Amino acid sequence: MAIPVLIDCDPGHDDAIALLLALASPELELRGVTTVAGNQTLEKTTANAIRVLEAAGHGQLPVAAGAERPLVREPTRAAEVHGDSGLDGPALPPARARAIEAHAIDFLAGALLSSPQPVTLVPLGPLTNIALLLARHPGAAERIERVVLMGGAIAEGNVTPAAEFNVWADPEAARRVFDSGLDVTMVGLDVTHRALVGPDHAEQLRASGSLGRIVAELLDFYGGFHREVYGFAGSPIHDAVAVACVAVPGLLETAHRHVAIECASELCRGRTVVDLWRRTGRAPNAHVAVGIDAEAFVELLVERVGGLA
Ligand code: BDR
Ligand code: CA
Repeated sequence: MAIPVLIDCDPGHDDAIALLLALASPELELRGVTTVAGNQTLEKTTANAIRVLEAAGHGQLPVAAGAERPLVREPTRAAEVHGDSGLDGPALPPARARAIEAHAIDFLAGALLSSPQPVTLVPLGPLTNIALLLARHPGAAERIERVVLMGGAIAEGNVTPAAEFNVWADPEAARRVFDSGLDVTMVGLDVTHRALVGPDHAEQLRASGSLGRIVAELLDFYGGFHREVYGFAGSPIHDAVAVACVAVPGLLETAHRHVAIECASELCRGRTVVDLWRRTGRAPNAHVAVGIDAEAFVELLVERVGGLA
């Protein structure tokens, strides 16, 4: 039986590709998508999620909009990475459908409570919606099988030297999720920066059909940022790594460790302090990704997304 999953996201180029990978993965049953402000405003991330699902022929999937801003911090955007639309590059048509009426956290609660089996949550943006879900619907949260999130890093940052964007954007929410007692897997920059999708892969996708061409055009735009800022020869498709490791568990190596979230310091805001060498004596609260079969991940991504009709 396929693994039931709910994806919370802020598309975003890599979120968009992650959604497509989920749709292309027979191991997963995507039951709905929720959106959060992050890479762009909530209005844009919601429209983008719908545009991507419609482009892939899955416009019937429910999309529910969630938090417009972080729990405590001022809202931010990542327009330098994802452009003004949040999905700059391809000429995707505007969304035809609208988000459902329900707020993301009420939709998630309903989907969790009505599911006969526990559901895997895959957050790919700031963790605001997930923190609100835990606070507002604690009973529903008990139906979460596990949380496999893209965010954090053991040893680097991307939005600041100390922090990864999703955790930095809403550190208070991230702290609540890591401290929740749920089974959390942290897929951070330590692994996503090691699995780059480059121009050759983009060409393969471009040749695979109309959806592949859209993905290639997303990669053309997104790759420019990674070339300029990091000197990378390709792009890390961060969010797709989280989806891939739910579908194909052997892709990542993880270590069960304690992760604390820095919320007080301005300098280190949103740092995921991973007790890699077990110096604190604190009980582990997350499976932290420490290794990735990069070749297998990239091959899986290109093959599956390229194979979508
Ligand atoms: C994360 O930040 C966002 O810009 C991406 O969509 C990804 O979720 C990477 O740090
Ligand atoms: Ca994202």
